[in-house]
Amino acid sequence: MIQTSLKSASLKPTRVVVLISGSGSNLQALIDSCHAGELPIELVAVISNRADVLGLTRAQDANIPTAVLDHKNFADRETFDRALMQKIDSYQPDLVVLAGFMRILLATFTQHYEGRMFNIHPSLLPKFQGLHTHQRALDAGEKHHGVTVHFVTAELDGGPAIVQASVPIVAGDDAKSLAKRVQQQEHIIYPLAVKWFAEGKLKMIEGKTQLKGELLPAAGVQIHSDTL
Ligand code: GRF
Repeated sequence: MIQTSLKSASLKPTRVVVLISGSGSNLQALIDSCHAGELPIELVAVISNRADVLGLTRAQDANIPTAVLDHKNFADRETFDRALMQKIDSYQPDLVVLAGFMRILLATFTQHYEGRMFNIHPSLLPKFQGLHTHQRALDAGEKHHGVTVHFVTAELDGGPAIVQASVPIVAGDDAKSLAKRVQQQEHIIYPLAVKWFAEGKLKMIEGKTQLKGELLPAAGVQIHSDTL
C-alpha cells in the first residue's frame, strides 16, 4: 500500500480505489504523485476487469493490493456490478477513481458512489462522449481537443466536470499523435482533481461541481496547453 507521508499525523489520508482495464498510465501518474509526496491519499486497491494488463503490474510494483473481476465470468451486468461494488467496498474507499475502466456501470452502481467517484474521458465534454474520441475530433475538423475529469453519474460521460485540459490539433495529426498529446494532460489533471478531493476542496452538490466553496462553470476548471 502506498501512503504519502503527511505533515500532520492526525490527518487521515483519503482512501482511494482505482479501477482499470488496461495500461494504467493514469494509475501510474497517481502512484508517481503519491511517491512525490504530492497527494494526501492512500491507494488502497487497484481492481481490473481484465487479467494480464500492464496496469496490474504497475500496481503490484508499487505494492498496492490488486484484484481481478472478469466481467465475462458474470451472468449479466447487474451481477457483475453488485460483485464489483462489494469488492470495492471491502476496501472502504473515500474515493473511487475510474482510470481507463472500460465498462458501462448501471445506475444503482453510480448512485452508490455519487459524489465520490471520478472518471477521466479523452474529450472536451460534452463533445464526443463515448469511444474513438480522437478520430472523431479530427474528422469533425476541430481546432482543439482534450480531456475531462468529471464526477460519475448515471449518464455515461455526462457527470459534472471538474477540470478540463485542451490541446491544439495541428496539421498532420492522426489519432495516435493526438492521443499522445492528450494523455500528457491526463497525467497532470487527474492527480490534480484527486488532490482537490483529498484536501476536502471538491464536492458534488445538486449535480454541480463545487471547488473551494465556489460552483464551477459546466466545463469545470479550464487548463489550456500549447505544448506539442
Ligand atoms: C485514457 O485515455 C482515458 O482518458 C480513457 O482511457 C484511457 C486510459 O489509459 N478513459 P490508461 O489505462 O490510464 O493508460
